[in-house]
Amino acid sequence: MKIGDLEIKGRTVLAPLAGITNLPFRLIAKECGCSLVCSEMVSAKGLQYNSQKTKKLLETAPGERPVSVQIFGAEADCMARAASYIEAEQGADIIDINFGCSVKKVAKTGAGVALMKDFHNAREIIRAVRAAISIPFTIKIRSGWDSSATQAFEIARMAEDNGVDAIAIHPRTAAQAFRGRADWSVIKQLKQMLSIPVIGNGDITTPEEGIAMVEETGCDGVMVGRAAMGDPFIFAGIEALLRGEPWAEPSLQERFAVMERLVDSHVDYLGERVACKMMRSRLSWFVKGLDGASVFRRELTGIESRDQAISLIRSYGDGLVA
Ligand SMILES: Cc1cc2nc3c(=O)[nH]c(=O)nc-3n(C[C@H](O)[C@H](O)[C@H](O)COP(=O)(O)O)c2cc1C
Repeated sequence: MKIGDLEIKGRTVLAPLAGITNLPFRLIAKECGCSLVCSEMVSAKGLQYNSQKTKKLLETAPGERPVSVQIFGAEADCMARAASYIEAEQGADIIDINFGCSVKKVAKTGAGVALMKDFHNAREIIRAVRAAISIPFTIKIRSGWDSSATQAFEIARMAEDNGVDAIAIHPRTAAQAFRGRADWSVIKQLKQMLSIPVIGNGDITTPEEGIAMVEETGCDGVMVGRAAMGDPFIFAGIEALLRGEPWAEPSLQERFAVMERLVDSHVDYLGERVACKMMRSRLSWFVKGLDGASVFRRELTGIESRDQAISLIRSYGDGLVA
């Protein structure tokens, strides 16, 4: 897949997930076969106010590249300044704009999915950001604000005409949030309509479903969000099947080794106290369906240190393998 002049080796994309796709998680997704990782959404306003918390979200590492950094906001000038700063200072390979966030706090400011119903401002923002950066530029949209998908088609066509290099689509409306099924037929229609790459997103939970999306819609890339939170190996699975190679689920040892790396990398990145608190939920996502998962989950709620987390993972893993 080629986004602007950037060649992506493979077709899988990690969805931006606020609070989840931080630098350590992206590195793990990359290690597990993901071709393009994306940051969580970053507030353009927060950057304008020089918020250190916001700036931390922009950290990237050579090992995860190519990396896309997603920004959100409702003001063209502010978005353009943020994009330009990220290109110049932060080592991003792609700037992505959020046209999909339906969380009230974001949408009520005119940002995120609210841009889907404000064609004029959406165009202002896209033009301003395009003029401000020379790296590839993408947007991630929903099917629309309300029940029809016409807004997706209008915004996508306008985006292509104004120099956007690829579009990711999560085909649910703002009103749906995460309810109902993603309507993959919208991905197919967008693909037929546009010349730039279309990245399909929504409800992929297995490598086989990733292939089904490509076959049903003809999309260029496959973006996975929630399923990757506890199963980053899904990316290697999709890539293997797309190449026509067999795919076997990772062994328990591989799964548990990734859990240990998740702990260590978060401790390095966030410090032990914050990381351990975060790991209480994150590690539980990795053991879905495994014997004794509920006991492991209960024990996780008490972890306070890196060593405690690692020994809990090891004793649970050893018990399963034995
Ligand atoms: C916890 C969470 C955080 C999310 N954060 C973002 C975000 O920062 N930016 C964005 O464009 N979409 C965000 N999304 C939407 C996802 O990127 C994705 O479009 C959606 O989860 C559907 O894909 P999936 O079925 O593979 O999860 C978020 C979704 C979840 C569940």
